[in-house]
Amino acid sequence: MTLQYSPVPGVQVQPHLLPARQADFEAVATLFRELHQQNASLDARFTLAENWRQVLEEQFRRTCSQSSSLWLLAWVGKKPVGLIMLENHLDSPLFRHRSWVELVALYVRVAYSGTGLARRLMDEARLWAAARKAERMQLYVTTSNEHARAFYRYCGWKPVQEIWRLELPAKATSDIAW
Ligand SMILES: CC(C)(COP(=O)(O)OP(=O)(O)OC[C@H]1O[C@@H](n2cnc3c(N)ncnc32)[C@H](O)[C@@H]1OP(=O)(O)O)[C@@H](O)C(=O)NCCC(=O)NCCS
Repeated sequence: MTLQYSPVPGVQVQPHLLPARQADFEAVATLFRELHQQNASLDARFTLAENWRQVLEEQFRRTCSQSSSLWLLAWVGKKPVGLIMLENHLDSPLFRHRSWVELVALYVRVAYSGTGLARRLMDEARLWAAARKAERMQLYVTTSNEHARAFYRYCGWKPVQEIWRLELPAKATSDIAW
């Protein structure tokens, strides 16, 4: 086996990519929390709900072995170091091109950033989507997350839509009786 990188000088480690199984929920939750702490530091509106763990666990246990979802973990020994989550999507029958795969989450621990692990996870994601005959993949990324945006561009992704936000005052009055 070829060892492709050395995250710690002198130590050669090749993370192992494996679809998450029921028993891996703790690893998924740990990485998911770290990812969302980072997301919330860029935009407080992405702060996780109080009961996020319970919601995530329910979603994970229901979908981790379904063919419409992928929860892929990267391991170094018993330590989880990366996560990618994908989901099949079907838009309203109003639209001709309604089927796509959402890249729901991508996270690589800082110690493994810049090592090619994110690229490997992305390559597997593309293969998974292609195996489902998906026409396209889509994702949401925070505008200020410049590193992630540069990474997606590098992987061939292009922005095609924007999400615009209007923050509303706590109290607004209207002449109309809603
Ligand atoms: C976004 C994230 C997954 C990227 O992973 P990473 O390990 O930091 O990515 P890398 O720096 O290793 O870059 C991987 C590849 O992209 C290339 N790349 C990254 N930024 C680039 C840039 N600005 N210009 C050109 N290439 C770039 C690297 O050269 C590398 O190529 P290689 O594998 O062929 O050598 C990672 O930083 C992360 O988990 N961030 C926190 C969570 C997050 O923001 N997730 C996305 C939320 S939408």
